[in-house]
Amino acid sequence: MKSKHIIDLEDLSANELTEIIKLANEIKERPSDYAEACKGKILATLFYEPSTRTQMSFKTAMLRLGGSVIGFDNPQNSSVSKGESLKDTITVVGGYTDIIAIRHPLEGTAKAASMYSDAPVINAGDGGHLHPTQTLTDVVTLYNEKGSLDGMTIGLCGDLKNGRTVHSLIKTMSHFRNNRFVLISTPELAVPQYIKDVMNASDCTYLEVPSLIEAMPMLDVLYMTRIQRERFASEEEYEKEKGVFVLDKEKLLSAKRDLKILHPLPRVDEITVEVDDDERAKYFIQTVYGMYARMALIKTMLGNTDKTPTARIFDTHNVQCSNPRCITKTEKYLPKIFREVGGDMLICKYCENRTLI
Ligand code: NCD
Repeated sequence: MKSKHIIDLEDLSANELTEIIKLANEIKERPSDYAEACKGKILATLFYEPSTRTQMSFKTAMLRLGGSVIGFDNPQNSSVSKGESLKDTITVVGGYTDIIAIRHPLEGTAKAASMYSDAPVINAGDGGHLHPTQTLTDVVTLYNEKGSLDGMTIGLCGDLKNGRTVHSLIKTMSHFRNNRFVLISTPELAVPQYIKDVMNASDCTYLEVPSLIEAMPMLDVLYMTRIQRERFASEEEYEKEKGVFVLDKEKLLSAKRDLKILHPLPRVDEITVEVDDDERAKYFIQTVYGMYARMALIKTMLGNTDKTPTARIFDTHNVQCSNPRCITKTEKYLPKIFREVGGDMLICKYCENRTLI
């Protein structure tokens, strides 16, 4: 495999991504053929942040492959509550298990964990940054429901600033041909600059619109998202943004007949319940694709023959990342590693935030 760990879906080559999508479909068709594919292997799920689907689908995926699962879903029940560092937890768990799925409220945590784990690490969501296995879920859904991953007009609506599923999905879909993104949000919740940079560097185009009704007739896919209450600085700021975009039956009147409506879930109030009965609503079947997608990913990663121990990484710059939600803010021992992009700008390798020298 191109990479031992999956921190970003870009850690898979285009060919590996295609193979995993195919394998997910194969497992879905013939699950009994894979019932012992990971027999004797152990998955750790380390969830420092709430989760229903991601955690349960990872666990079910491993159990359906014949493997076992350990872990925590509340760090207060682990030694984290005694002040244990991420490095120490990961070093130990990496010695107990064969593969680790980690979710954390701080950005760049999965990358940091991968630096101390002998077992492969999967990013199950790092703050408002990335969520590659949700994107794997989304692309398996799109491949099956649309028949292709190219040439689509994809609307993304809601909290495009804090929605990690949005960031990962745009990054991945930018690699396919001729996709066009319609970004539907308030100016306050627009996509971060690093995601705009990704779209600008690709052959995909994008436009930003303030209204769902305006965007609707042009869309092949509508990806609705929840306003990420827990990532707002204050309740007042959240109150200003909530309830602005609501998909209901009336708004769907001008939509294409073959539109596909996706949502990573959980839903709060951004899609009315009546939409669930519309045949274009795919967000519940999307969760099922997600389990098969994770089965395919786990099986592929455990079949990887690259067992090289993780190399020690040293500071590349004597600079602090300026993102207050970067993992380097709390785990002070982490090496300060940046990518140079010219001028006086550096990009943090954990959270991708731009920092001025
Ligand atoms: C998403 C997440 O955790 O980022 N949920 C999920 O994993 N399916 C979306 C969200 O919480 O809004």
